Amino acid sequence: MQEKIELIKKLKTEKNAVILAHCYQNAEIDEVADFVGDSLYLSQQAAKTDADIIVFAGVFFMAQTAKILNPNKKVLLPRTESGCLMADMINYHQLMEFKSQHPGIPTVCYINSTAEVKSECDICCTSSNAIKIVDSLNADEVLFLPDTYLGKWVEKQLRNVKVTTYPGYCPTHLRIKPEDIIEAKNKYPDAEVLAHPECHKNVTELADYVGSTTGIMNYAIKSNKKQFIIATEKGVVDRLSRDYKDKKFILIKDNIICPNMKWHTLDDIYNALEKEQYEINVDEKIAKKALICIDRMLEVSK
Ligand code: 13P
Ligand code: SF4
Repeated sequence: MQEKIELIKKLKTEKNAVILAHCYQNAEIDEVADFVGDSLYLSQQAAKTDADIIVFAGVFFMAQTAKILNPNKKVLLPRTESGCLMADMINYHQLMEFKSQHPGIPTVCYINSTAEVKSECDICCTSSNAIKIVDSLNADEVLFLPDTYLGKWVEKQLRNVKVTTYPGYCPTHLRIKPEDIIEAKNKYPDAEVLAHPECHKNVTELADYVGSTTGIMNYAIKSNKKQFIIATEKGVVDRLSRDYKDKKFILIKDNIICPNMKWHTLDDIYNALEKEQYEINVDEKIAKKALICIDRMLEVSK
């Protein structure tokens, strides 16, 4: 493995490439990554990189967002199978239908959506800035898609805005049931429960903290507690357990794994850099419109 790591680092320098990795990736990817974090952090890094090549160890919509932000750079996704089941739940036609049912209402799309969908929305958000983004619109009502649970969680936090949601969801996060939280709390009564807002509302209601993947990690690092029940993808627990050995991190259930996030291996990253595959391209007209939606989010998140 060390040999492969060295080869990747060498290629990265030769080709002036940067590797961005989401914290749901297999943890060994961190050995070669320049930046590891949640989707907001990675899109911010993509927006300011001066590398010629961006290798995205994440899912398709993340690489697509990086390409929209960098139309003149080469953006590579090491494995094309890495889609997002939630992003696939809404296409252009479904979005148009949803909008036509609620005319004149500002539309917020979660970054977990395709470029085509982003191109028809007013502003984008991630799980770490969703409250701020919805609030920034100063609207009585917003349309939120595709994640109904994130949208409804935002509505609950803001109280003064109606958030009408599209019925999309993350199959991985919905595997977490309220019974799992109750059982884990009984087993670890001193532990704090940290949950991602993609979880069902009956789960987030039981959590001590709800936030993005980086939000959860930062909370656990700063907390004085020693035990944490983590209600999100396994990659977060793998990284926290690796880096903070004096604390105990309990994955709520063994199967909270996003299969699409786990495709990329170090071999795939090496092949991506060597063969410059698989290049992500976005139709120019769609990319221009989607960029407005993403740029608005980055501006509000500064
Ligand atoms: P973050 O915004 O927390 O990185 O989440 C992205 C995601 O796909 C979670 O399922
Ligand atoms: Fe998509 Fe869910 Fe995987 Fe996140 S965890 S990338 S929302 S399928």
